[in-house]
Amino acid sequence: MSHGTGAEHLERLSAVQMQPLKVANAAPILTIVVPTLNERDNIKPLIALLDTALANVDWEVMFVDDDSTDDTARRIRALALVDPRVRCIQRIGRRGLSTACIEGVLASSAPYVAVMDADLQHDETLLPRMLEILVTENVDVVIGSRYAAGGGLGDWVGNRAWISRLGTRLARLVCNQDIADPLSGFFMCRRDVFEDVVRRLSGHGFKILLDLLASSSRPLRVCELPFEFRTRRHGESKLDTLVVWEYFALLADKLLGRIVPIRFALFASIGAVGLAVHMPVLWGGLHFAALSFGAAQSVATLAAMTSNFFLNNILTYRDQRLRGWRMLRGLLTFYAICAIGATANVGIASYLFNANQTWWVAGVLGVIIGAVWNYAMSSIFTWRAS
Ligand code: GDD
Ligand code: MN
Repeated sequence: MSHGTGAEHLERLSAVQMQPLKVANAAPILTIVVPTLNERDNIKPLIALLDTALANVDWEVMFVDDDSTDDTARRIRALALVDPRVRCIQRIGRRGLSTACIEGVLASSAPYVAVMDADLQHDETLLPRMLEILVTENVDVVIGSRYAAGGGLGDWVGNRAWISRLGTRLARLVCNQDIADPLSGFFMCRRDVFEDVVRRLSGHGFKILLDLLASSSRPLRVCELPFEFRTRRHGESKLDTLVVWEYFALLADKLLGRIVPIRFALFASIGAVGLAVHMPVLWGGLHFAALSFGAAQSVATLAAMTSNFFLNNILTYRDQRLRGWRMLRGLLTFYAICAIGATANVGIASYLFNANQTWWVAGVLGVIIGAVWNYAMSSIFTWRAS
C-alpha cells in the first residue's frame, strides 16, 4: 500500500529474478528415499541429521508420502522451499512402503540411492561409509544391519523381536544368501543394480530389500554394517498384524509368482473361505429360520459374497483398499460380477455334464471358470474402478 512497501516489493522481485543466475548447485550423487505415513514431526529433525551426517556429499532426500492425514506432505514442501535438496512425491489413494520406495528411486537420478525410514530409528551416520563402500569396493548393496555383530534391536521386546527373527529365517526361502538382516529397511545401492531388477520386483508390503535381493537375476554382492535400532520419538509404527500377511504374500510371490499370480491365489483362497461361510448359513437358514431351500441358499450366497468382498478388500487388495462410498460401490459391483460368475459356473458345468463329462470334472471346471471370471472382472471393475 505505502510507497515503502512497493519499493520493497520491487527489490524482492529483482532478487528473485537474479536468483537463477546465481544457482549453480551440483547434482546430487546420492538420493535418500524416505517413505512417510504420518511422520510430520520427524521431517525437520531428519533433514537436520542428514545435513550433519552428509556434510561432504552432494545429496538430496526424496520423501514419498502416501497422503498422510497429519499434513506431512505440506510440511515437507514448506521445508523444500528453503532447501532444494528436499523433494516430495505425494501419492493419493495408494499405500505401501515398498512401492513408495520404488517410485522414489525411479523419480530420482542420482547414481547412488539409499532407502531409510523417516522416524529417526535408522542411524544416518552410516550413510557416508555406505557410500564410500559402494564407490570404492566391489559391492552392490550395503545394508544397515540390526543382526550383524555390533548391531541391535534397540527397545524391541518380546513378540516383535521374536517375529522379526522368524521372518529373517523364512527369508532364506527366497534368497539363498547368508545375510544377517535381509528384512532391514535401511540400505544403499547403485542405481544400475536397482534398475536391473525393478521390473521383477513384486512390491508387496514392507520388505523392499528382500524383494530386491530375491528378484535379482544374479546373487548381489552384499556388505552389512551393524547399527543399533533407535527408539521412535514422534508418531507411531505402522507395522500391524497385516504386515505379517503381506510378508507371506511377498514370499509366496517370489516362490510361486511365475506359476500362479499371487493375487489370484489369495482371491481363490478367500473364495474357499466363502464356502466355509456359505454352508453354516445355509444350514442355519433351513433349520432355524425354516426358510425354503431357495431362500436359504440365496441368503447364504449373499453372506458368502459379502464376506469375500470384505476379506478381499482387506487382504488381497490391501494396497488399494476401498473406503466409504467407494467401498459401497465396490460391494455392489462385486455382487453383480459374482452373480454372473455363478451363472457361468452352473451353465458351463451343466453343459459339460450333459455332454457326458464325469460329474466332478464338470463341477471343478465350472468352479474354475467362475473363479477366473470373478477375479478378472473384479480386478478391473471393483478394485480399479477409481
Ligand atoms: N509412503 C508410505 N506408505 N510410507 C509408509 C507406509 C506406507 O504405506 N507404511 C509405513 N511407512 C513409512 C513410515 O512412515 C516410516 O517412515 C517407515 O515407512 C517405516 O515404518 P514404521 O512403521 O516405522 O516401521 P517399523 O519401524 O515398525 O519397521 C521398520 O524397520 C524394520 C526393521 O528395519 C521398517 O523399515 C521395516 O521394513 C523393517 O523391517
Ligand atoms: Mn519405525
